[in-house]
Amino acid sequence: MIGHARRGSADLVAGTRRDPLGEVRTSWAKLGQTDPLWAVCVDHSRRGGRWDPAQLLASGRREVGDAIAVLDRLGLCARRERALDFGCGVGRLTAALTDHFAAVTGVDISAPMLAQARAINSAVTRCTFLSNDAPDLRLFADGSFDLVYSSLVLQHLPPPVAARYLAEFARVVRAGGAIALLVPERHLRTPRGFAYAYAPQRVIAWFQLSVFGYPAPMRMHALPAGRVKRVVEPLGARLIASERHPGYGGHWRMAMHFVAAPSVPAASHPAPSTPVGQPVHDDVRSG
Ligand SMILES: C[S@@+](CC[C@H](N)C(=O)[O-])C[C@H]1O[C@@H](n2cnc3c(N)ncnc32)[C@H](O)[C@@H]1O
Repeated sequence: MIGHARRGSADLVAGTRRDPLGEVRTSWAKLGQTDPLWAVCVDHSRRGGRWDPAQLLASGRREVGDAIAVLDRLGLCARRERALDFGCGVGRLTAALTDHFAAVTGVDISAPMLAQARAINSAVTRCTFLSNDAPDLRLFADGSFDLVYSSLVLQHLPPPVAARYLAEFARVVRAGGAIALLVPERHLRTPRGFAYAYAPQRVIAWFQLSVFGYPAPMRMHALPAGRVKRVVEPLGARLIASERHPGYGGHWRMAMHFVAAPSVPAASHPAPSTPVGQPVHDDVRSG
C-alpha cells in the first residue's frame, strides 16, 4: 500500500505559520529529480548518473550487514519481523534490510526518490515504499517496528525537526526493538569541515549551488551522541552505543548510534493505533 501524509495546521511550527519542512521538501524533490543516486550517497566521482545501481545496492548490503552484526553483539533487536527505513531515498538499504527482516517499509519525503526506489527494487517483494511529508510519523501506530533504521537523513534536517522524528522513532519502535542511526557526529578539522559547522546555512547553500554545482542545497548538522541521549532517554529509550563509522564522511566524523527501545512505546505523537501503514487521520490518503 502506498500512503501519503499531507500537511495540516498541526504540522506547522508552534506559534508560527512557518512550514518546518518547506525547504527540505523542495530540495529533496529537486535532488531526486536531477541525480538521485548521487544525492543519496554523495560521491563526487559518481555525479551525473555515474553510480551503477548494483554497486549502490551492494554498498547498502554492506552497511546493513555491519549494523546487524553490531545489533547481534549488543544483544539488541532479537525479533526481526518489521523494519522501518526512514529517509529511504532510492531504497539502497530497504532491500538490504529484507535479508534480515520479514517485511520492511521505506519512507521518504521525495516523490522522485520513491519512484526510483520502486523501480530499482521492483524484484524485491517484501518491501513497501511510502511517502510521508509530515514532520512526524503519524502514519504508523505505536510499537509498529522491531528496528527503525535511518542512515544519512537526520543531518539534513533542521535540528528541532530531527529531534521530533527521533522522538517518533522511540514511539514507533516496539519494546525489545532498536533504533540505528548513521549520522555525522562532528565536523572534521578541515577548512570545509569548519565551514559546514560554523557558516550560516544560507552561505553553505550558496556554495553548494554556485561553486559545487549541486542541483539543490543539502543542509548539514552534526548529531552527536549527547543530543541523541537528550531526546530519547526522557522517553524511556537508552543510547547503548555510538560506533565510529568509516563511510561516506567527507568532512565529517560519522557514527552509528544504537538505541534500545523504551519498554513501553514513547507517546510523542497522540496515539494512532492502527496496523503499520494504515491511514490514521483524514489527511492521509492512499495512492
Ligand atoms: C542522503 S539521502 C539518504 C538515503 C538513504 N537513507 C541511503 O542512505 O541511501 C537522504 C534521504 O532522506 C530523505 N528525507 C529528507 N528529509 C526527509 C523527511 N523529513 N522525511 C522523510 N525522508 C526525508 C531525502 O528525500 C533523501 O532521500
